[in-house]
Amino acid sequence: MIPIAQPIISDEEIAEVVKVLKSGFIAQGPKVAEFEEKFAEYIGVEHAVATTSGTTALHVALMALGIEKGDEVITTPFSFAATANSILFTGATPVFADINSQTYNINPQKIQEAITDKTKAIIPVHLYGQPANMGPIRKIAEEHNLWIIEDAAQAHGAQYQDQMVGSLGDIACFSFYPTKNMTTGEGGMITTDSDELADTARMLRSHGEGERYKHTILGYNFRMTDIAAAIGLVQLKRLDGFTKSRIENAEYLTTHINTIEGITPPFVLDKVKHVFHQYTVRVENGRRDDVKDFLTGLGIGTGVHYPKTIYNQKLYQGLGIGGNCPQAEKAASQVLSLPVHPGLSTEDLTEIVDLLEEASEKFFQ
Ligand SMILES: Cc1ncc(COP(=O)(O)O)c(C=O)c1O
Repeated sequence: MIPIAQPIISDEEIAEVVKVLKSGFIAQGPKVAEFEEKFAEYIGVEHAVATTSGTTALHVALMALGIEKGDEVITTPFSFAATANSILFTGATPVFADINSQTYNINPQKIQEAITDKTKAIIPVHLYGQPANMGPIRKIAEEHNLWIIEDAAQAHGAQYQDQMVGSLGDIACFSFYPTKNMTTGEGGMITTDSDELADTARMLRSHGEGERYKHTILGYNFRMTDIAAAIGLVQLKRLDGFTKSRIENAEYLTTHINTIEGITPPFVLDKVKHVFHQYTVRVENGRRDDVKDFLTGLGIGTGVHYPKTIYNQKLYQGLGIGGNCPQAEKAASQVLSLPVHPGLSTEDLTEIVDLLEEASEKFFQ
């Protein structure tokens, strides 16, 4: 079986975790501080604030910006539900703008059309590891005085016009879930250049405390452990190597898939560095699930990211939050992610291409 995702943990991560466990200091402490410092340096921002997950990072980021009930936040409906759920946590309302059919990322024109006098912020997602089209998004945000929260959960190390994602808006959020480009088990990180937002985020992730036992605002316990940070520090050192393999694997797949009938490989904008968290193809003629079942039956792990738009989820229907995003709905019925992770061998890549060719012959000829 070739898995769709695979965390890559070496003896070094294991040794670092053992050191932390033996140190007696296992909750948020010096390792978290070091991880934050190194991560901020890697992204090229002033501050990084570690949390328990990408979801709690988004929740804290929105709260730090003062997003609350009555506000609207524009985002994509074609993402993991956590993106929009974080808006719900604050009491604000997610408003869904359709995607670009080639990149699957939010379409700036559709953001423009969704703005009302209640709009306070935009959450672009750098889906599958490809940066959203941040130039036009930043222009819209400036013109309408809106915050930008980057959802960079899938895009560690990706770049837009040579600038790191995580440094392209007011605040950004990363996830370190095991399937992500780097992991801490569970974990998240907020990045920002703003001293004020970073201070507020630090308070929100730890009971609203500026100083111990002085609770100024209502906060949570969203603290990362030193155990997780020890893993993250090693993974961060290895990240550029992981990214290089992901890009090479994606290039191999695209070169060979380009000529396969019925399957459209990912489209990459020229001004970006796509870090291929997912390698996602489009399968035509309503045959996505047939191709998926065929590959699964022959031992190739696949994924559908995502089978439904967020507003078509029961939760959102129950809340009466809808959307009209035909491109996102079409993508939800056609996309299929194939393995692209750094654990793949040349034989694995050849096998994926061969079986995809067989699938194409079976379902498209
Ligand atoms: C786009 C996106 N946003 C947010 C999240 C939430 O991250 P986490 O699973 O770490 O809470 C994820 C990952 O699962 C994601 O893919």
